[in-house]
Amino acid sequence: MNKYIIAVDGPSAAGKSYLSKQISDKLGIVYIDTGAMYRAVALYFIENNINIENKNEVEDALNNIDIKFDRVNEELHIFLNDEDVASKIRTEEIGMMASKVSAIKSVRYDMIDRQRKLAEDDSVILDGRDIGSVVFPNADLKIYLTADEKERAKRRLLDLKIKNPNCSFDAVLEDIKKRDYNDINKPISPLVKTDDAVLIDTTNMTKQQVIDKVILLLKERNVI
Ligand code: DC
Repeated sequence: MNKYIIAVDGPSAAGKSYLSKQISDKLGIVYIDTGAMYRAVALYFIENNINIENKNEVEDALNNIDIKFDRVNEELHIFLNDEDVASKIRTEEIGMMASKVSAIKSVRYDMIDRQRKLAEDDSVILDGRDIGSVVFPNADLKIYLTADEKERAKRRLLDLKIKNPNCSFDAVLEDIKKRDYNDINKPISPLVKTDDAVLIDTTNMTKQQVIDKVILLLKERNVI
């Protein structure tokens, strides 16, 4: 079978990771969560007090960062210099820092390079903000996944409440708005829907409907 690439882009909390993981399991292909990569870099920068205004410091730090993905009990975990940081990176603090570090040119070039290498040998599904626009402009299928911001805040709140029952809807909604603004207005690789990406608005769709839609698109295009 031919090797293929599926790009899933869209704003924060649109359900990109869930969709990508399900498609990866269903089709037996590799899943690369590129947001987790930016989060791992953010965690490293925080833990090592890296001054993000200092170019040399940032570049040196990138050279000391090793990122790997591996399955742990059926779940995809990310390893930062061999430490499993899958859970540590899922906080709002790391999310905000990831948004900042992802606007640094050297960080982006480095991550894009790593993402292309990870996809060299296998069929992959990647999710992020710039996969269809920058990382893999020739992807076999490009999805732009979105949902209304209140619906996304509702979904994110459900996730966050597992760890922190005191999270408020308003705070999460504010955070989503801020992150959307940063993602869309980044001077490099801003979040955009490319003309050839298929828009899927999941506001009124079930998770299964979204998965079925993507499988149908892949079949229609003879990708699978
Ligand atoms: O999807 P996420 O929330 O885990 O992503 C964390 C941050 O990284 C988010 O602010 C956007 C940024 N990001 C990016 O700029 N490019 C990507 N390909 C993936 C994520």
